[in-house]
Amino acid sequence: MNDKQLVALQAAKYVKSGMLVGLGTGSTANYFIAELARCQREEGLKITTVASSTISAQYAQSLQLAIVALEHISSIDLYVDGADEITSDMTLLKGRGSDLVKEKLLAKAAAQFIVVADASKLVSHIGQNFAIPIEVIPFAWQLAKKSLEAMGGTGNLRPNAANDGFWITSHGSYVLDMKFDASLAASTLNTLINNTPGVVEHGIFYGLSDAILIADNGTVSERCA
Ligand code: A5P
Repeated sequence: MNDKQLVALQAAKYVKSGMLVGLGTGSTANYFIAELARCQREEGLKITTVASSTISAQYAQSLQLAIVALEHISSIDLYVDGADEITSDMTLLKGRGSDLVKEKLLAKAAAQFIVVADASKLVSHIGQNFAIPIEVIPFAWQLAKKSLEAMGGTGNLRPNAANDGFWITSHGSYVLDMKFDASLAASTLNTLINNTPGVVEHGIFYGLSDAILIADNGTVSERCA
């Protein structure tokens, strides 16, 4: 069993019958979804799920998990998702895919948000390994980019996979992948980007995680807020 699967199985222990459970996106989240389906099949677990992406919804449905649409919920019991970067103060960088808006909505709506990752995701500061994905309203991208550059940011619109156009998120936004000075605190950056007109959402998840489960060479450790 690899570390991503190990940590996903550990997170599944938090799931109890009757819960409304948010499903994350990515390879670690997929192991969690598969484990929920196994518990439903073999142990009589009874849950309803809400997915952070179409790809996770399709996977959950293929495994016969019951799904409700995001627009029909106002809170959830538990959200389990991966991350691209995790700092020691439990700030995350997420959203390398197309589903940042739903991911942050679920993280905020959850009574408990548990992050699952292997040790490769631990960083000393947000932005260490990846640019910060910033979803912008398409017509606002140039003005938003200018505002972000005034904060010291550098970056560009994310190209699409064929490199003949721009990446469109599931919410219909463009993505500016921006790098900032490493000395800028994630909390400050979070506020500055939140206050930038034209920005729909961004990848810094500040103050949202309740617990972080990290698997490192077969051992899971847990950090709580
Ligand atoms: C998806 O948009 C991201 O926020 C994921 O949570 C992240 O990329 C983690 O992916 P893995 O579990 O595949 O590493």
